[in-house]
Amino acid sequence: MTRISLTVDGATVADDVEPRMLLVQYLRERLGKTGTVIGCDTSNCGACTVHLDGQSVKSCNVLAVQADGATVTTIEGLAQNGTLHPVQEAFRECHGLQCGFCTPGMIMQSVDLLNNNPSPSEEEIRLGLEGNLCRCTGYHNIVRAVQHAAAQGSSTAGATS
Ligand code: FES
Ligand code: FES
Repeated sequence: MTRISLTVDGATVADDVEPRMLLVQYLRERLGKTGTVIGCDTSNCGACTVHLDGQSVKSCNVLAVQADGATVTTIEGLAQNGTLHPVQEAFRECHGLQCGFCTPGMIMQSVDLLNNNPSPSEEEIRLGLEGNLCRCTGYHNIVRAVQHAAAQGSSTAGATS
C-alpha cells in the first residue's frame, strides 16, 4: 500500500492505495465519484476524463499514486453552489447528449479545450474531442454545445482545475 494525499473537487483526501490502482477506480470505488465513467478501460473512449492539475487526462490511464499531491476535478466538481458550469449548461441547452454515458468525459474535455482555445473553429472542436467517443453518435449537437459555450465566453467561468 502507498499513502496518497490529494484534493478532489475541492476536498482534501488521504488514503492508502495499491500501487496498481487506477485513478478512475480510486475516484469511483473509494470516493464514490461515479460521475466519472468507465467506458472501455483501454484509454480509447474518454468517458473517464477528469482534470489533473488543470489538464484533462483519461483517468483510466493514470495510477492513483500518480495523483499524489495533485488537484483533481471531476464532473461532480464543475457546478458551483448549485449552478451548472457554463459548458454543462451549453450541453443541456443544445441537447448535447443522448444516453449521457459519454457526457461527463465530453464536458471535461470540452472545458479543457475551451480553456486552451476560447474561440475554436468547428474543426478544432472536432479535433479536440477526437479522443472522446459517443456510442450514440450524437456528435453534431456536442459540437454545437461547445460552439455555444464558446460564444457565451464561458471558457474561464466556473471550476476548471
Ligand atoms: S474508460 Fe478511460 S478512456 Fe475509456
Ligand atoms: S450520448 Fe450516448 S454515448 Fe454519447
